[in-house]
Amino acid sequence: MNTLMNMFFFALITFTAFAAALPVYLRDVFVPPITSPDAGTIWVVGQTHNVTWDINGAPSQITNTNGTIVLVTNGRLDLENPLADNFSILDGFHPVTVPDVPDSADYALVLFGDSGNISPNFTIIHTAPSL
Ligand SMILES: *[C@@H]1O[C@H](CO)[C@@H](O)[C@H](O)[C@H]1NC(C)=O
Ligand SMILES: *[C@@H]1O[C@H](CO)[C@@H](O)[C@H](O)[C@H]1NC(C)=O
Ligand SMILES: *[C@@H]1O[C@H](CO)[C@@H](O)[C@H](O)[C@H]1NC(C)=O
Ligand SMILES: *[C@@H]1O[C@H](CO)[C@@H](O)[C@H](O)[C@H]1NC(C)=O
Repeated sequence: MNTLMNMFFFALITFTAFAAALPVYLRDVFVPPITSPDAGTIWVVGQTHNVTWDINGAPSQITNTNGTIVLVTNGRLDLENPLADNFSILDGFHPVTVPDVPDSADYALVLFGDSGNISPNFTIIHTAPSL
């Protein structure tokens, strides 16, 4: 009797653990790292640049492939004015027009899709540096 009970509970626990792990396995979270802009990037207001990210290792099941790119100013996300949205995060790049914001070296971008991923800080200026 005792052995039978133990076997029953072992089967129950095994099944519960498996069932709990299953949805996690089916819904991999894809957090593609942003490859551009990077820490050396200088963007000039009004220019169009590709934001790029690494799509290697993208799982076959993604909960949300819809991407959104948001500017981060001094750590604050401008969620109301995304630089781009409604594109697929499986594309690996998406062009954005550099918004008219004050010159600063403390901008960053967040790429939202399945989850959020932030770029390194980069610079936005109004006048291209003379070479
Ligand atoms: C963005 O990348 C795509 C694919 O490489 C390219 O066709 C397009 O011209 C690029 N756009 C800009 C603004 O650099
Ligand atoms: C990036 O910018 C944020 C917001 O201004 C600042 O808090 C942070 O220290 C900066 N990070 C680096 C690596 O410079
Ligand atoms: C979003 O993108 C899809 C596919 O490119 C397009 O069919 C749809 O009209 C777009 N929706 C909006 C609201 O822009
Ligand atoms: C983004 O989601 C909307 C609403 O679900 C859909 O109509 C559109 O096709 C999606 N766009 C992309 C690029 O996946």
